[in-house]
Amino acid sequence: MNGVKSWTVTLVFYFLILAVLIANLDGSSSIFGFLPKRVNSSQKPPHLHLQRLGITGPRLLRFFQDNLLEFQDIPPVPGDEQSGISLYYDSFKKYLYEIPHGPPRPLECNPDKSIVAKLTRDVQPIPVHSHNDYWRDLPLFKGIAHGAMSTEADVWLYPKPTSAEAPQDDYILAVGHNEVFLDPVHRTLDKLYTGPLADMLDQVNCVGGHKGGVFYDSPEDTLFFYIDFKSQETHLLYNLLMDKYLKPLADKGYLTYFDLESKELVWNQVTVVLTGDFPRDLGVIDDGEHGYFEDDRRYVFQEASILEPMALEANASVVSTSSFSDLLDKCGYSEKSVLSQGQMDGSLIKCMKSMVTRSHEAGLRTRIWGVPNWPVGFATKLWHQQVEHLGVDLLNVDNLELAQSIF
Ligand SMILES: *[C@@H]1O[C@H](CO)[C@@H](O)[C@H](O)[C@H]1NC(C)=O
Repeated sequence: MNGVKSWTVTLVFYFLILAVLIANLDGSSSIFGFLPKRVNSSQKPPHLHLQRLGITGPRLLRFFQDNLLEFQDIPPVPGDEQSGISLYYDSFKKYLYEIPHGPPRPLECNPDKSIVAKLTRDVQPIPVHSHNDYWRDLPLFKGIAHGAMSTEADVWLYPKPTSAEAPQDDYILAVGHNEVFLDPVHRTLDKLYTGPLADMLDQVNCVGGHKGGVFYDSPEDTLFFYIDFKSQETHLLYNLLMDKYLKPLADKGYLTYFDLESKELVWNQVTVVLTGDFPRDLGVIDDGEHGYFEDDRRYVFQEASILEPMALEANASVVSTSSFSDLLDKCGYSEKSVLSQGQMDGSLIKCMKSMVTRSHEAGLRTRIWGVPNWPVGFATKLWHQQVEHLGVDLLNVDNLELAQSIF
């Protein structure tokens, strides 16, 4: 009797396994990556299943990386010029934008299902600058998904101008680290940064009376956006940046500005900071008395120095930056001595803090670049000291995962 019973149990068991296998063959469960996926043109693309997953922030990025091969069969969206950076970037962006098959359609007005919600719901903004952000596998999105309150893009005029007076219509702003490796089709300032920012903000600012930023849970927090001028034709680059790339964001009211009439600083969702070879002359920045766009507003801020926070004209800046080695020099220390102690000692902290405080008194947020990022224990000790003892506002961070784990 017992023999028959156990045979029945075994049979039922095998039958169940077979049923599960068959159910999986239609691909509907293959999102979890357990089983090889069968290509079937009538099946829903896997990213549509993801809309209901509800995971956000770094966990969402990990999920995408772990299941990347699930996305390789998604046909390119007709007319979507965005694709072509990498499978990871392209499929992640499709997920964020919820791009279905067929022609692209306008983004839906639904803050709850917005790109911002998908990226940053339950993500705590942290005082971190996503250093070399444009180098990451997910420019812009990765920093924001980790809660980094600041991002950056190195911009170049493309093609290389032959004269400073060339008409700006001939140029675009390409994003990249090295002039030799620019990709003027996929890696432009609007495709990687200003376009997605406008899309993100449109979706969370479409309901009257609600003002949203890039962080879902902290809609009032601004995103600092450093634009690093790489080309020597500073003036041409600046005009192009303003006319073509920042104007749409300014027109929608998304940019922090200094009101040239009331002398008030008005914070908005994105705060543009110019760094690198930017124009030093406010006459160029404002292009006359009434601001670059003739609306009595200054939408960009020059980066000041922590060493000389008052060197720029009043109200030209909202942030100051210096390198760790310059600050050490000023305090009579060397990087070696800090490394050998494993931290900044009391008198160094006192010296540096007085400089950071001077910036704060001038109304400037602070960032220190070039702080050693290795060994890891030393680097995180210095992060803690910067935030807790110096009062630094934005940590210059390469490893976002590590930074997020300490806050
Ligand atoms: C700078 O801003 C302050 C306060 O917002 C104002 O009192 C001052 O006049 C401004 N200075 C200039 C040069 O705009």
